[in-house]
Amino acid sequence: MNVADKLTSMFSLEGKVVLITGAGGAIGSVLTKGMADAGASMVLADVNDAGMKAVEDSIIADGGQAISVHTDLMSLDSIKSCVQQAIDHFGKIDVLVNCAGINKREGCLIANEESFDKIIGINLKAVHFMSQEVAKHMVEAKSGSIINIASYNAVMMLGGCGIYGASKSGVAALTRAQAIEWAKYGIRSNAILPGHISTALTAPLWNDPYRSKFLLDRIAMARPGTPEDLLGMTILLASDASSYMSGMMYPVDGGCLAGGQPWDIC
Ligand SMILES: NC(=O)c1ccc[n+]([C@@H]2O[C@H](COP(=O)([O-])OP(=O)(O)OC[C@H]3O[C@@H](n4cnc5c(N)ncnc54)[C@H](O)[C@@H]3O)[C@@H](O)[C@H]2O)c1
Repeated sequence: MNVADKLTSMFSLEGKVVLITGAGGAIGSVLTKGMADAGASMVLADVNDAGMKAVEDSIIADGGQAISVHTDLMSLDSIKSCVQQAIDHFGKIDVLVNCAGINKREGCLIANEESFDKIIGINLKAVHFMSQEVAKHMVEAKSGSIINIASYNAVMMLGGCGIYGASKSGVAALTRAQAIEWAKYGIRSNAILPGHISTALTAPLWNDPYRSKFLLDRIAMARPGTPEDLLGMTILLASDASSYMSGMMYPVDGGCLAGGQPWDIC
C-alpha cells in the first residue's frame, strides 16, 4: 500500500454513521459536509430545518448519504426520538458530534434564570443526555467515538460569558467522565476547544474595530479561525487514526491559549 492509500484508509470515515447536533449552524454545517466528504453517512439534528436541508441537499448532490431529524435538544423525548430515527435508518451510530450550542453575552450580575436554564440546557444537559442515549447503542456495538464541541472558554474566560463558560467547563468534565466510564465498551470521548471562530453570528464582533483588536491581540496567529479550521481535528477524532486518544481537550485556537500575541520585546 502506498503512503497516500495508507493515509486515506487511516483517516477515512467510509462505512461510519455520524450523528451531529447543530448540523444546520455555521460550524456544524461545515463539519457535517466535511465528514460526509470523508465518507461518512450523516444524521443531522437541529431545530434549524432550513440550515439542515441545505447541508443534506449538498451531501446528496455529491453522492453521499444524509438524513435530517428535527430535534429540540431542550426536550429529552426529542433527543430519544432523534437517536431512534438514526438507528431505524442506518442501523448504528459510530460517531456522535455534540456541536449545538448557544451563548448570550450577559455579565454575572444580570444573567437571569431563563438564560441560565437555556444555556446550560442546550450546551451541557443535552450533551449528557444525547451522549447517554447514543452510548446505549455504542455499548452494544462495543465501539464508538464521541466528539464534544466545547470552547476555549472551558479553560479561559472572557467577560460576559460566565454561564457559557460554566457550560463548556461542564462539557470538559463530562468528556473525561465518558472517557473513563465507557473505555471498557470501546467508546472514546474527546472535546474540541475552538478559539475565536468567524461566523455570521460573530461578524458584528469582528466588524467592530475596538472589539476585533482586543480579540486579535489575544490570538498568536492574529486572525480569527474559520469553521473549516476545525474540520481536520474533527475527522481525526472521528476516524480510526485517533484510536488511542480519549478523555482530552484539543484546542484549535490559533495560539490563543498559548498566550496570544507576544510583547514586542522578543
Ligand atoms: N463561533 C465561535 O466562535 C465558537 C467558538 C467556540 C465554540 N463554539 C461552539 O461551536 C458550536 C457551534 O457554534 P456556531 O458558531 O456554529 O453556532 P450557530 O449558532 O451557527 O450554530 C448552533 C446550532 O445549534 C442549533 N441549536 C440551538 N438550539 C438548539 C436546540 N434547542 N435544539 C437543537 N439545536 C439547537 C442552532 O439551530 C444552530 O444551528 C457551539 O457549541 C459553540 O458553543 C463556537
